[in-house]
Amino acid sequence: MENAINRQWRITRWPEGLARVTDFEWTESPMPRPGHDQALVQNKFLSLDPTNRVWLWDRDTYLPHQNLGDVMRGIGVGTVIESNKAGLPAGTPVYGAFGWQDYAVVNPNDFVIALPEDPNVPLTMHLGLLGHIGMTAYIGLLDIGQIKAGETLVISGAAGAVGSLVGQIGKLKGCRVVGIAGSHEKCEWITQELGFDAAINYRVEQPLVKALAKVNRQGIDVYWENVGGETLEAVLQLMNLKGRVVMCGAIAGYNETDSNAHGMHCVRNIAEIVIKRVRMQGFVCLDYFDRAGEAFAALGEWHRHGKLKYRVHVVEGLKNAPAAMNMLFDGSNHGKLIVAL
Ligand SMILES: NC(=O)c1ccc[n+]([C@@H]2O[C@H](COP(=O)([O-])OP(=O)(O)OC[C@H]3O[C@@H](n4cnc5c(N)ncnc54)[C@H](OP(=O)(O)O)[C@@H]3O)[C@@H](O)[C@H]2O)c1
Repeated sequence: MENAINRQWRITRWPEGLARVTDFEWTESPMPRPGHDQALVQNKFLSLDPTNRVWLWDRDTYLPHQNLGDVMRGIGVGTVIESNKAGLPAGTPVYGAFGWQDYAVVNPNDFVIALPEDPNVPLTMHLGLLGHIGMTAYIGLLDIGQIKAGETLVISGAAGAVGSLVGQIGKLKGCRVVGIAGSHEKCEWITQELGFDAAINYRVEQPLVKALAKVNRQGIDVYWENVGGETLEAVLQLMNLKGRVVMCGAIAGYNETDSNAHGMHCVRNIAEIVIKRVRMQGFVCLDYFDRAGEAFAALGEWHRHGKLKYRVHVVEGLKNAPAAMNMLFDGSNHGKLIVAL
């Protein structure tokens, strides 16, 4: 360990469109050591999230702007390997924003959570079902969506990490669930394996509003938005009175090159929100981590009883992180996308 090297991906320029490997610089330096009140974490698995691309916008978002030259921000799970920090001894498994690197020094006010040690729970699960992904699905559907039994729930990005959990929770709560996804295989998985009532392959079934109307004859009560743009425009035309739109994400706009237009598609049919008295609300899971205990207890219980399935898509090697991030935008990830370091 004494001579260990810290491999890092640093940001060298703001991407235009899809991020390219040349927007980053690979650096290697000696493993850092923790100072007073600090701990040293060895990062084992890195979470790749659509929001990584949002963090590469040249502006503040829900988190402060990164700077050129910074180690790319990223959520990870790992183990404390050296510590001068009370409450975080060496050997503790941890979750936090450790960045695209092998080793991270944790400062007193950094976001880090000590994880329970359970041989039945793989470390990667804390990046998915029992991490920010599970939190997002649970809080978004129950608190923001205020879902009720008997309602129709439509989800875009339905076969992804968040969307696949949202649909299954919707079924557990007694809803009729329709997913929109980008391939035949994904549509089969959510209907045949996860129990969604119907699925639409948006790449084939166009115009989308027609395909949606065919499987939602009673209209849509709750729409879970992961995509934005034309998908939202289609769904808005079919919303029921007092429906809710849970604004979780707008991935179709994350790679827009105009820095003033990031994710800000001009949405048509917006008057439907007034006509149907629809409530449309955005949220960020980070605001709800004080509810983590409640969310993870419920999600863990459903999973143990086989009522909640999820899949992970692991890419080997930190070196592949920049290229792998784009799998989230061409749909080639099949489950929660993770890089094994
Ligand atoms: N608000 C929050 O706190 C929060 C937290 C976590 C995630 N999110 C958001 O939730 C959404 C899903 O994230 P995730 O981590 O679960 O990723 P994911 O769904 O596992 O992966 C992204 C998927 O989005 C679909 N996609 C990409 N570009 C698209 C486009 N232009 N049109 C339609 N579909 C597209 C692809 O699936 P197809 O094959 O179906 O196209 C891709 O597999 C994102 O918008 C993300 O920003 C929000």
